[in-house]
Formats: sequence, structure tokens, C-alpha cells
Amino acid sequence: MKNWSPDSWRKKPIKQQPTYLDKTILESVEKELRALPPLIFAGEVRDLKKHLSNVEQGRAFLLQGGDCAESFSDFGADNIRDMFKVLMQMSVVLTFAGSCPIVKVGRLAGQFAKPRSSDLETVDGVSLPSYRGDIINSFEFTKEARVPDPLRMVRAYNQSAATLNLLRAFSRGGLADLNEVHRWNMGFIKESALGEKYSEIANQITKSLAFMEACGITSENAPTIRQTALYTSHEALLLNYEEALTREDSLTGDWYNCSAHMLWIGDRTRDPKGAHVEFLRGVKNPIGIKAGPSIKEDDLLRLCDILSPDNESGRLNIIVRMGANEIEKELPRLIKAVKKEGKKIVWSIDPMHGNTIKASTNYKTREFDNILLEVERFFNVHEAMGTFPGGVHLEMTGKDVTECVGGAKPVTEEALSSRYETQCDPRLNADQALELSFLIANSLKKARDRVGRS
Ligand code: PEP
Ligand code: CO
Repeated sequence: MKNWSPDSWRKKPIKQQPTYLDKTILESVEKELRALPPLIFAGEVRDLKKHLSNVEQGRAFLLQGGDCAESFSDFGADNIRDMFKVLMQMSVVLTFAGSCPIVKVGRLAGQFAKPRSSDLETVDGVSLPSYRGDIINSFEFTKEARVPDPLRMVRAYNQSAATLNLLRAFSRGGLADLNEVHRWNMGFIKESALGEKYSEIANQITKSLAFMEACGITSENAPTIRQTALYTSHEALLLNYEEALTREDSLTGDWYNCSAHMLWIGDRTRDPKGAHVEFLRGVKNPIGIKAGPSIKEDDLLRLCDILSPDNESGRLNIIVRMGANEIEKELPRLIKAVKKEGKKIVWSIDPMHGNTIKASTNYKTREFDNILLEVERFFNVHEAMGTFPGGVHLEMTGKDVTECVGGAKPVTEEALSSRYETQCDPRLNADQALELSFLIANSLKKARDRVGRS
């Protein structure tokens, strides 16, 4: 990699960063982080890249989801378990639909730093610096709370390590065992029509497992039945943190960002000449690029050239987030440009960030129907262009929150206040997330019939 080092981003223009007042503390935190163990390993990243290469070729589907922003106060085993369970449930539904492996990537164990549309937040005539995520400052609306504190990076690292530790335990045994498929059906979903529909699939799996057991294949002798791989991802926004966790792989001599398996660049920081692109071009992890309506074809192609000069399959994921009303206009031009240049891309849809509205009750929300519509249109555009709709990227939680309106068990605008818990954007609750996977199952099946099996 020419003229690149983990700190070469420092010479480039940078957006969306905190201004740390005490540089000595900042430097001592960076030093501390540099000495801490990596959170993930290069070999795991290479495995994920292989799985994403299968997605690129239409042989697998990417399910990426998690909180808009993880928080220090909401940290706990129950939340992690419930997020894991709902991702597993969705993955079962999608596996059945697409007859293909589902590559599971959580917005987890590091999704802390947030880009903001404004540097200041004003409440009742008082303006304070915006909240930028728990890794930077605190959500509380006071002057002290909003001062960026470098020590928060260490806390975010520790929380990520503990989160990953639990996720690894769940995925390697216990909770990921397909024999547990009924246990993933959570209390509040179980009683609903959706819960019943899920139970039908779970029953089919149980029957198949019984048949396999009769043939001598059990979770004891076939580890794939009791294990899964759940990878982690977050927006690589706070580059002081990302740089400190970037390590040279002793096996290959390549650089890997060891804070997550996959990193993405946000819609506001994807300037090809900017610091974020500079940083990510040098690490070998799979990279996501958020693509909102303002992205130009030329810039997208430049990003592809800079970030994937060898056009490596499984390296790049374009995460489209146009909004339900824009996607049919904006996506075809991007696919056309990329296809013409023969770029190898995993296309996924983030139906959240282009569909944020303000409810009459003043809550920031998203309508379930618009989320679904953008996903459907994403599938339709790919069908028309002859490309593979590779995945979904969702803001969701395993909890029964009331943040997005609509769904089969509808959350109304009036009900938003009852369990509105997000510190940033509104998430699909577990019901809505599972419902969405049932509703896109048919489109996935069609796409796989068209591309994946040809
Ligand atoms: C996000 O994914 O939380 C986010 C801020 O997205 P975007 O950069 O697409 O706005
Ligand atoms: Co968000």
C-alpha cells in the first residue's frame, strides 16, 4: 500500500470529529489502547471476506443489524442475548427463503461514534455541542456532559470486549445450536401471529434435525449444527480509536483494523480526499460505503478504485440509503456506473437513514411501511438491472421498544413515548425486525432463483 500508514489520515481534511481539549490525556489514551489486545483477529476477517465474496456472487445473503448507537447505560447481558436471538430468528427465516447461507454481521461491540447533522443542539433556546456517541461525550443535555472525554474510548473498548466475549460464547455453543431454534422465539413475539409463523419454520427444522440424528448426524459430531459466526461492524468514524486498534498481521504483514471485522464509511465522511477514506484504504477488512442521494457516480467509482484497487471480491459493500421515494431514481445510475467498470460489489440496502421523519408528537421516527417499501424497491431495481440484491442493513434491537411506527402489531405515533429508548435514531423492535424478514423472504427467493442458482 503506497504512502499509507495507520496515521496517514492525520494529514488529510477530516469531518465529524470531537475537539479534545487536553491533548496530553488524548495521547495517553491512544498509547493505552495501542497496547491492549485486538478485539478481533485477521483470520476471522479473511473468513468474513470469503463469505462476502459468496454474497457478491449471489450465493449468500448479508444480514447486518444492530443499534444506531450502543450506549454505556444500556449495556447488559439481556440486551446482547436478545439482539443475538432476533438476528438468529431473522437468519432462519431468510435461510429458508433463499436456500442460502446468511452472513450475519452485528452493528455491535464498537458502534459508538455518531456523525451529526449539526455541531450544536438547541433546546428551549439553549445551545450545546451535539451528542456524538458514548465513546465521545454524554447524552445528558448539560455543558459538562457534552465535553469530549478521551477516557471514554477506553470504556468503549472494554464494553466492546465484554460484548464480544458473550457473543463468542453464544455463537460457539449453547444459544446458537439449531436445536435451540424454539428458544430464540422471545416471549413478546411468541403469542403473536408472527410467533406462530416462526414456530412453523422452527418445527420444520426440529423435524429435519430429528431425521439427521436418525442418520447419525448430531450437533455433537457436526459442529455446524451447534455453531454460527456472528461478525461485528461499526462506522469507522473516530479515527483516534480506529488507528490505535489497527495492527500488522504477523502472518501476512498486512494491516487489519482489529476493532471490528467490518467497517463502514458514513454518508457524511466519504470524501475521496478525506481522512476516513485515507484510513480505510490501508486496512484489509471488508469496507462498507454508505451511499445517499447526493453521491455522484464519479465519486463512487473513485472510492471503489481507492478502497479496492485490485477489485477484490468481498472487499466492498455499497450500502444504499436513498429513502423509499428516491431509490428508484438514484440506484439505477449507481449500478449502471459500477457495472460498466466491472466492479465487484456487495450491494445492500439500509432502509433506515433515508426514511427518518418527525412524528406529530415530535419524536424522530420511521414508518415501517416506508422501510419495507425501500427494501422492496431495492430488490425490484436489482431485478431490472440483472444484479444481485446482496443484503439488508438495519437499525434494530431485540427489545420491545416503540421507536418506529407501524408493523403488524402496530406502534402508533401516540405510543412512541412509552418505550422510546434510543439515544440516537429510531430502531425496529424485535417484532418489526422479524416481520420485515418474513416480508422480504419472497423477494429474496425470487432473486436467488434468478441470480444465485444460475
Ligand atoms: C448510521 O448508519 O448510523 C448512519 C449515521 O448512517 P449514514 O452515514 O448513512 O447517515
Ligand atoms: Co443511525
